[in-house]
Amino acid sequence: MTGNRKIYIIGFMGSGKSTMGRRLAALMEWQFLDLDDKIEEIAGKTIARIFSEDGEEEFRKMESETLKSLTGTVNVIISTGGGTPCHSGNMDYMLETGITVYLKMTPGQLASRLRDSSAERPLLKNIPDEEMLSFIGKKLSDREQWYTKAGITVDGLNPDPKQLKSMIESGSDN
Ligand code: S3P
Repeated sequence: MTGNRKIYIIGFMGSGKSTMGRRLAALMEWQFLDLDDKIEEIAGKTIARIFSEDGEEEFRKMESETLKSLTGTVNVIISTGGGTPCHSGNMDYMLETGITVYLKMTPGQLASRLRDSSAERPLLKNIPDEEMLSFIGKKLSDREQWYTKAGITVDGLNPDPKQLKSMIESGSDN
């Protein structure tokens, strides 16, 4: 690879970013970091509480500051939140400072994954079941303008960490 020492995993909620990040980190013997966990650690409260007590705008500020505070951390796989690339110039920042990997999935695949966990996710908790698929479809199509800038795109439904590792090492992000 080309001297990049950070790999950012991006994609919609439920696309398996943390699972892939952990598996890739184990294969590459790099550190793994979940951006949402880091935000919760710094704030001393859950993402759900940040949204309900401080609002989304404050969350986005914390998210961007936390992402950019990791500058000195190297050999690290960072799984981001679903909205991270879409705010505050974060996608350009990630493109400049590391390799970006998009776990791509269709709205239908995401809706079936998110069905049981929507109550825990601030952006989904008030969406009725019958509107979930169209909500996801719309949000995903808004967000794809950022997601598709990623250097590497892989199938989020059947991701293969070994294959991803080879793609990264052979510089397929360039
Ligand atoms: C968000 C996704 C969440 C979390 C927050 C906002 C989003 O992370 O950062 O609830 O805007 O899509 P996951 O993608 O890990 O669920």
